[in-house]
Amino acid sequence: MAKKSSQVSGFYKLPVKERVDFVSEFADLSDEDKKLFSSFLDIDTADRMIENVLGTFELPIGLAVNFLINGKDYVIPMVTEESSVVAAASNAAKMARIKGGFKTEISDPLMIGQLQLLEVEDVVSAAKKILDHKKQLLDLANAQDKVLVDFGGGAKDIEVRILDSPIGKMIVTHLVVDVRDAMGANAVNTMCEALAPMLEELAGGHIRLKILSNLADKRIVKAKAVFDKDKMGGEKVVDAFIESYTLASIDPYRAATHNKGIMNGIDSLIIATGNDFRAIEAGAHAYAARDGQYTSLTKYHKNKDGDLVGEIELPCAIGIVGGAGNIHPKARLCKKILGIKSAKELSGIVASLGLAQNFAAVFALSTVGIQKGHMGLHAKNIAVMAGASGEQIDKVADQLVKEGKIKLDRAKEIIEEIK
Ligand code: MEV
Repeated sequence: MAKKSSQVSGFYKLPVKERVDFVSEFADLSDEDKKLFSSFLDIDTADRMIENVLGTFELPIGLAVNFLINGKDYVIPMVTEESSVVAAASNAAKMARIKGGFKTEISDPLMIGQLQLLEVEDVVSAAKKILDHKKQLLDLANAQDKVLVDFGGGAKDIEVRILDSPIGKMIVTHLVVDVRDAMGANAVNTMCEALAPMLEELAGGHIRLKILSNLADKRIVKAKAVFDKDKMGGEKVVDAFIESYTLASIDPYRAATHNKGIMNGIDSLIIATGNDFRAIEAGAHAYAARDGQYTSLTKYHKNKDGDLVGEIELPCAIGIVGGAGNIHPKARLCKKILGIKSAKELSGIVASLGLAQNFAAVFALSTVGIQKGHMGLHAKNIAVMAGASGEQIDKVADQLVKEGKIKLDRAKEIIEEIK
């Protein structure tokens, strides 16, 4: 079978139906799958997902195209309320293709569970005793999840930290668990709860917290791409880009905005696949501050050819089995569109998308500014708010953009003029 390409130009110009046809062809979707795009989450499913359900809340799913990651073509479903994000990711992916696309490196899916031990008399000898019983502790943890162990995962290591605090010294034991294709919170929390009595017996004192850490710094994904200097508009633009990036690398005020741009891409895919975007956000921002100062999650430099090299590194606690991603029909559909076989593969796409999104934002900021790109869709929203419908929407939006003033009052006037 011929290799499928995710490269499409003018995808945004296609009617919705043709976009659905394209993705259905790309991902071998069935007619049933296709219907899902315009369906709603049924109320009984919603009622089982959270408490006190009243209804459901819809957001658009867009498709980012052009992604080449580790030599494989991907189209990426993105769920977001923000205009320009999907187009920006697709454009950045198109530029990255010229020099071979994105390359990723992904660690094993190791999550950390924490057990907090308080009121231990001799923390140093208690810590040693815990480590001396590592095997027994790991065996007990693994007895909680035979299925995970059968799949090659399970508890792999115990680490012990002694921390000073305003309420005295405490021992924090880290249980390191390979969670395979799951996000892992349930498996890790169950294991931590099971270990608590044994730790209390070994160390004396008592356990307070037993819970997963969202700073998943043993579950790291990296992505890299080279952006062609000529496509960017020449070496001067590459230099301007690096000047912009430098501020994010040294200043938390800029780094927060820079990383927000990264999360525009990442969250949209995390939501599309039914994963926990708060976990990813918490992990990413904690990781960005791991050296004591909050900084950029991406790094950029110019290579010897004058091209721009971009890299991203972040924790990525996501799963493709279990959780809402298994229950929500559209999350299952989005995973099918991605054609992913493992959580690791999904992490590589997450990181590549984050890097693409960041490149696109900083590129726009270093050249034309961000508003130009936002204008078209913003104008369409204003046109709709002013009461335009059908073909009127594009006419009103085009006129607003032409006049350079995207204002509700003016949109209303234009509607009257073209009536
Ligand atoms: C807006 O949602 C995201 C940006 O502010 C990111 C950035 O400044 O790098 C454009």
